[in-house]
This record gives sequence, C-alpha cells and structure tokens, in this order.
Amino acid sequence: METTMNILFISIEGNTRSFLTRLQAFAKQQHSINSQNLTINLKEITDQTVPEAEDKNFFAFVPTYLDGGNGFDSGFNELMTNALGEYIASNNNADKCIGVVGSGNKNFNEQYCLTARKYCDQFDAPFLADYELRGTDEDIDNIYTILQKRWKTVEA
Ligand SMILES: Cc1cc2nc3c(=O)[nH]c(=O)nc-3n(C[C@H](O)[C@H](O)[C@H](O)COP(=O)(O)O)c2cc1C
Repeated sequence: METTMNILFISIEGNTRSFLTRLQAFAKQQHSINSQNLTINLKEITDQTVPEAEDKNFFAFVPTYLDGGNGFDSGFNELMTNALGEYIASNNNADKCIGVVGSGNKNFNEQYCLTARKYCDQFDAPFLADYELRGTDEDIDNIYTILQKRWKTVEA
C-alpha cells in the first residue's frame, strides 16, 4: 500500500500552491501522529512542463480562469490553466486521475469551479471537493480527510 498521495496542480497567482503547501505540511503532521495517515507528494504543472506518463494514481487540483459564457447554455474558454488539462489528456494520464478538486471565487456564481467540473466530465473522474481562494484551515482538514478516504478506497 502506498503511503503517499500524489497531487498534480497548476497555480497562476499562487493560491493553489499556498493551499497545497499547507495541505502537505498538515499531512506530514498527521502522518507523524499516526503512520496510517498518508503523506502528500506535489507536482506543479506549468506551460514549460514536458508531458510524460504518470505511473501512479493522482488527484488534480485546478483553479478557475474563464472568459465569457456560463459554461452551460453558452460557451466559455479556459484560460491560463490549459497546461494541466493537456498534461492529463496526454499519455493516457487520465486513467490515473482518481479525483479532481476545484478552487475559485464564489463571486463568479455559476462559473465557480467550472474548470474542475469540466475536467471531471472530460477525464471521467469524480469531483471531490472545492474551496475558495487560498482555503481555510477547516478546508485543509476536510479535504485531507476526503482525499485520504478516496485514495485508500482506490488503492485497496
Ligand atoms: C482573470 C480571472 C478569472 C477568474 N475566473 C474565475 C471563474 O470563472 N470562476 C471562479 O470560480 N474563479 C475565477 N477566478 C478566481 C480564481 O480561480 C482564484 O483566484 C484562484 O484561487 C486562483 O488560483 P491560483 O492563485 O492558484 O492561480 C478568476 C480569477 C482571475 C484573476
């Protein structure tokens, strides 16, 4: 059984990176309290990342950057975060994507976390959770629990 959960992410303005760095520290602390708790391995995807095949399961964390439309009855364009979607679409990596966590800003109403929901459709992966901006300590605690439950279910 793996003792580390893998996360792929993209972060344009640093919020997602901040959230995940804190989540990773939280996981390390939980692991030190009880070795059954899983640690976290992070991989940041940027426009410079060369696509490669992922050989282990992973979660995808994606913030939302859209222009136009509401994504349902009118179209929208994904901006800034395409490198992550392209990475997952390449090399059959979608087969290893076992869940998506979205982030965004609720001021965007129907477009809140829409890119994450789009990835779930496209990659046939479950939508596991969402949080706003840099997330709260409560989000970290909750999302860690959700990820660990999903990881252990899939890996069992
Ligand atoms: C130009 C721009 C467009 C955005 N569009 C959306 C959106 O459509 N839906 C949403 O939920 N959040 C939207 N956001 C909020 C970002 O998703 C949010 O700030 C997120 O935390 C950014 O993550 P990052 O700092 O890791 O890049 C937008 C932010 C910017 C700057």
